[in-house]
Amino acid sequence: MEKKKLGIIGGGTMAYAIAAGALAKNYLKAEQIIVSEPDAEKRGRFEACGIYAVSDNVRAAENCEYLLFCIKPQTFSAVAAELRGRHLPALISIMAGRTVSGICAALGDSALSVARAMPNLPCSEGAGATAVAFYGCSREEKGFVLGLFSAVGAVLEIEEENLNAVTALSGSGPAYFFLFLQALVRAGVQEGLSLEQSKRLALQTCKGGIAMVERGVPTETLIASVTSKGGTTAAAMERFKQEDFEGCIARAVRAAARRAEELSE
Ligand SMILES: NC(=O)c1ccc[n+]([C@@H]2O[C@H](COP(=O)([O-])OP(=O)(O)OC[C@H]3O[C@@H](n4cnc5c(N)ncnc54)[C@H](OP(=O)(O)O)[C@@H]3O)[C@@H](O)[C@H]2O)c1
Repeated sequence: MEKKKLGIIGGGTMAYAIAAGALAKNYLKAEQIIVSEPDAEKRGRFEACGIYAVSDNVRAAENCEYLLFCIKPQTFSAVAAELRGRHLPALISIMAGRTVSGICAALGDSALSVARAMPNLPCSEGAGATAVAFYGCSREEKGFVLGLFSAVGAVLEIEEENLNAVTALSGSGPAYFFLFLQALVRAGVQEGLSLEQSKRLALQTCKGGIAMVERGVPTETLIASVTSKGGTTAAAMERFKQEDFEGCIARAVRAAARRAEELSE
């Protein structure tokens, strides 16, 4: 079999998002990808896009130029045991908590090129945020990896030591945003709006806010321009201050980072 550009181990949510994004942006053609996934139904999703899908990890690993690990961190040891001692291509991992040194040790080869990335769920909408740390990668390998994640959103190169902070901010961050939006919608309902009305208004408020921030205006300035002295926003802001809203967010992000540190191996 002619070598594919990209091999993917694990054909779940993130793998599908990344592969579909790479196809949608014409970064890769379907015939340049091979996926290994045990579940036939999940393989079918890739096959429907024209991607070659197999159930044999070794076959995928040995027939590609870049191997992307999209399995759960806890599945990695078993997969590494299958791949240990084989000639492996440049590696890309999105597994939370699996360090470059841990990946190399499990695969029994310390001379591997590894890109360790932390994407997030909005990659499935082409609006992801990915941070990536490189170890032993050539310029060409870095370019390929940055291009791959650019196909599903924004990408930032960082040092591996900062990946736990990235995990706590943008990796887990979509859940914080959904929680905030959900709370805002529920509060609107409590104030007498219908669920539909509250959802539409809350979502459009978030979208409008993002558009303003993206123009480059500092958030402090934007807050000040909504908050007139003695007004309604000021009453809400005072309550946020009393309840230490900012401190609560900082403590939540710290808890996620601490958990990422605990899970690192
Ligand atoms: N989801 C996120 O928001 C997110 C964000 C950043 C990073 N990540 C990281 O991305 C990775 C994948 O997450 P995900 O959400 O895409 O998980 P997922 O949907 O569960 O995908 C993992 C896939 O791997 C398959 N698999 C299980 N054992 C396997 C084996 N031995 N060989 C090959 N494939 C195997 C699973 O198949 P079965 O289901 O049939 O077992 C599943 O389809 C994780 O390491 C996670 O830390 C996820």
